[in-house]
This record gives sequence, structure tokens and C-alpha cells, in this order.
Amino acid sequence: MAKGCFITFEGPEGSGKTTQIAMLRDFLASRGLEVITTREPGGTPAGDRIRSVLLGNEIGCLEPETELFLMLAQRTEHLRKVILPAVSQGKFVLCDRYFDSSMAYQGFARGLDPQKIRDIHAQFLPGFLPECTVLLQIAPEQGLERARHGGRKQHDRIESEALDFHRRVFDGYNSLARNEPERFLLVQADGDPLQISHKIIAGLEKRIPVPGGKE
Ligand code: TYD
Repeated sequence: MAKGCFITFEGPEGSGKTTQIAMLRDFLASRGLEVITTREPGGTPAGDRIRSVLLGNEIGCLEPETELFLMLAQRTEHLRKVILPAVSQGKFVLCDRYFDSSMAYQGFARGLDPQKIRDIHAQFLPGFLPECTVLLQIAPEQGLERARHGGRKQHDRIESEALDFHRRVFDGYNSLARNEPERFLLVQADGDPLQISHKIIAGLEKRIPVPGGKE
């Protein structure tokens, strides 16, 4: 069985990840590949329960470390039970948020030491990282505006943070991408979704041999 591939999508609130993941899934499936889409926090029954603690407004304020450990707990379930098995079966796994979200949100925005987050991840989650991370770039003001007018009734607990918090998330992502240019694929997210999708596909094909393509 061919080796699978793990691709993550990251970006600030309202960067259009869901739409782009669906478009990439359809493209890869049209090439005859087996694709699964998943998300964090979530992706497993336990992960979905943890998600509701993390994002529920009724929870109020959580300590940054509590938030981090819950993110890592749901990721442990997700990685071991969903992501690794699928990749080893030769599937393409497209994941809405993963490790870099913990770095950007709990690290850069909440103020926990990013190096410590990286170390814990390496120790307990075998440091498993994606072959490619698509970073959808949108100014925090614009992203929040989109997320908050996207038809959902209520903002979740993290989305409701102040603009400054979301600016730190944005800067954090840029700093992560600067340090790992070979893993990150940066794509501007404020245009026509079809054109954005074409840019993502073109960028991926340069980094990952997508079967059925030109190579
Ligand atoms: P979600 O509704 O999926 O938001 P989005 O559509 O923007 O992806 O909520 C996920 C939220 O969880 C989002 O605010 C980012 C946050 N998050 C972290 O803070 N750390 C993490 O490690 C992960 C995976 C997500």
C-alpha cells in the first residue's frame, strides 16, 4: 500500500479553511486517492467531548496550561486512533488545525513558552508533523469579521477573545512559517475560493508527489 500523506490547514479565525479543505478533498478524490477530512479539537468521540469543554462559553476562563493539556489530550486520541492508522493505510489525511494551532494560540497568544509546547509534543505525541501545512493568511480584523458574520449564532470561547489576542495568533503563525519554510505553504485567503484552491493545489504539487498529477 502506498504511503499516505498528512496535510494540515491552519490560519486565524475566518480564514476559510473548511471550504478549502472540502475543495482539496474533492480534487484528491478525483485523482483516485483515498482521502479523509478531520478536525481539531475533535476528530474522535472523546475529542469531541473535550472540544465542547474547550470552546463552550459556559466554561468561562481556563488557565492557559489547562487549555494546552486539553488540546494535547484530544490530539493524543486523534493522532493514535485516526491520523496514524489512516496514513499507514495509504490515505491522504486533511486536518483542520493541529500542532501549529497549539503553538499559535496557547503559545504565542496565551503566552506559554512555544519551545516547551514543542518539547511536550515531541515527547508524548512522537513529534509527528504534517508533510505540508497550508497556512491561510488573512488579517485578523478581516477574519474575525468573516467568522462573526458566517451565519453561526454564537462565537465560541476562543473566537470571543479580544482583537489583540487574534493579532498575536496571526503574528505567531507568521513566525512559525518563517522558521519552517519547507513545511508551510502560505496562501492569501482573501480572494475567490476557486483561485485560492488552485494556488493550494499548485503549491502542494511542488512539495508532494500527488499521484495522477504531472510530477
Ligand atoms: P473552530 O470552530 O474549529 O474554529 P475555526 O473554524 O477557526 O478552526 O474552533 C477551533 C478553535 O480552537 C479555534 O479558535 C482555534 C482553537 N485551537 C487552539 O487554541 N489550539 C489548538 O491546538 C487547536 C487545535 C485549536
